[in-house]
Amino acid sequence: MKTLSQFSLEGQVALVTGAGRGIGFAFAHALSQAGAHVLLNDLNEEAAQKACDQLIAAGGAASPAVFDVTDFEHLDSIVDDLVDTHGRLDILMNNAGILIRSPIEDHPMPDFSRVIDINLNAVYAMARSCARQMKVQKRGRIINTGSVMSISARPGVISYTASKHGVLGLTRGLAAELGAYNITVNAIGPGYILTEMNRHVLGTPFEYRIRERTPMARWATPEELGGTAVFLASDAASFVSGQILMVDGGLTCNSLLVESANLGASS
Ligand SMILES: NC(=O)c1ccc[n+]([C@@H]2O[C@H](COP(=O)([O-])OP(=O)(O)OC[C@H]3O[C@@H](n4cnc5c(N)ncnc54)[C@H](O)[C@@H]3O)[C@@H](O)[C@H]2O)c1
Repeated sequence: MKTLSQFSLEGQVALVTGAGRGIGFAFAHALSQAGAHVLLNDLNEEAAQKACDQLIAAGGAASPAVFDVTDFEHLDSIVDDLVDTHGRLDILMNNAGILIRSPIEDHPMPDFSRVIDINLNAVYAMARSCARQMKVQKRGRIINTGSVMSISARPGVISYTASKHGVLGLTRGLAAELGAYNITVNAIGPGYILTEMNRHVLGTPFEYRIRERTPMARWATPEELGGTAVFLASDAASFVSGQILMVDGGLTCNSLLVESANLGASS
């Protein structure tokens, strides 16, 4: 097989959750450019439709899939309907996620549970619903959105950190169980990416602090994650499973005590 043709997703159907904007939209765009018909899930109907229109205008195939990923009771039938309509399901990108920043005393159980429900429980529920069809097809790709918080922590985001550590555990557990069905399960661990989720920190000391501690000395754009999604979804990654691929400008290989931008090459 020619190396480049291994990356083609022609003829495949991909479902991306939380694809109405931000990183999910960038994943959907990349998969569609690689040839997949992308089903763009979001809670926000207008955002999902607008995102689809953009992919179609760029020459891709896309359809909206509006539902709440925490609608656990109905996910099986929602996925069944999508498979009936589109004929197959090859790729699931579990991307929908939220972040609530607050110290422990201002982070009551309902907030903690909401974060765990969307960021972790829904990843399991979606994988469970979609794996049924992937098993029938004897091939599948499940790609979960982790974070640098899958392997590290900082104050003020305890529920998010717990959820993203859980995503790494789920990724490994699902990979262990589903590998026998030719279904690979991996995670992408984005570093700091400028999206609506964190736009409010622009210009604050936090933004600069991250820049200082990231070897590449900058934040990334969502588009910089697209190629990793295509790789993990494609035949090029046919024997890659149970892994988290950090796309973080080197942040997690850097000691958190070292401020990269302040150290010259001679230091
Ligand atoms: N932005 C970053 O720096 C960063 C870093 C690491 C990981 N991530 C992860 O990437 C993912 C996407 O983040 P983003 O920055 O693009 O966020 P975002 O807030 O810009 O977009 C999230 C999208 O998910 C949708 N969504 C939220 N809850 C949903 C639900 N219950 N059902 C369906 N859709 C829902 C929202 O409507 C929105 O369109 C998240 O899992 C996040 O934790 C983000």
